[in-house]
Amino acid sequence: MRTPIIAGNWKMYKTPAEAVAFVKELAPRLAGFDAAERVVCPPYVAIPGVAEALKGTPVKVGAQNVHWEKQGAFTGQVSAPMLQGLVEYCIIGHSEVRQYLGETDEMINNKAKALLAHGLKPIIAVGESLSQNEAGETEAFVGAQVQAAFTDIPVEALANIVVAYEPIWAIGTGKSASPEQANAIIKRAIRDVLADLYGQDAAQAMRIQYGGSVKPDNMLAFMSQPDIDGALVGGAALKVNDFVKLVELAVEAKGAR
Ligand code: PGA
Repeated sequence: MRTPIIAGNWKMYKTPAEAVAFVKELAPRLAGFDAAERVVCPPYVAIPGVAEALKGTPVKVGAQNVHWEKQGAFTGQVSAPMLQGLVEYCIIGHSEVRQYLGETDEMINNKAKALLAHGLKPIIAVGESLSQNEAGETEAFVGAQVQAAFTDIPVEALANIVVAYEPIWAIGTGKSASPEQANAIIKRAIRDVLADLYGQDAAQAMRIQYGGSVKPDNMLAFMSQPDIDGALVGGAALKVNDFVKLVELAVEAKGAR
């Protein structure tokens, strides 16, 4: 059984004080949903305060990006050793970072390796643009992103990696992929590609999230799909009630399995 994982990607929202106040309200309400992993990914500057506030709670912390080098002349960057002890997860490959900061598949692969080398767990985001989707290129494109991201990553590392399928045209647009469509891409372009690389058992054990306009009213439909193991959530993760509801629905859909 794959434990569902619901991760809130806060993006560039919430000051450190707002972030701490938010998780203090959130954490008690997320107790009792142990059938799901619950993760919040605040902006870097809020991470120490949030990590402290969440100590002793079941809610885990993630970062939104990382540099692949340990240290060096890389202005504005944060490395894996700097995140050690503060976070368990780190999102990499998010389409906004690919698009606005020029992150390439090779960088994403290097970031994944750096995180793993420091005992941190990558959440690797992949997904196609609207034009790729309309041109019928989704499967080939996402499959290639997955192959590139996993270059030289050994099979033993897979248990510490999560993949998030996020069609770019569904992020923050209110327009989500249909659950069946998302499940088909996750199965064919991610799980089957991983099966080719690592074998069926390893691929079946991998956790793959859907992301892109996930909300309480569509969550159950996504979580009811067999290959979707959780969600990477932007907008709805910024509201306590919505995030709690998403976790509740994930447990409802997957908990009894
Ligand atoms: P959204 O963002 O839920 O606001 O669409 C998802 C994401 O970018 O991870």
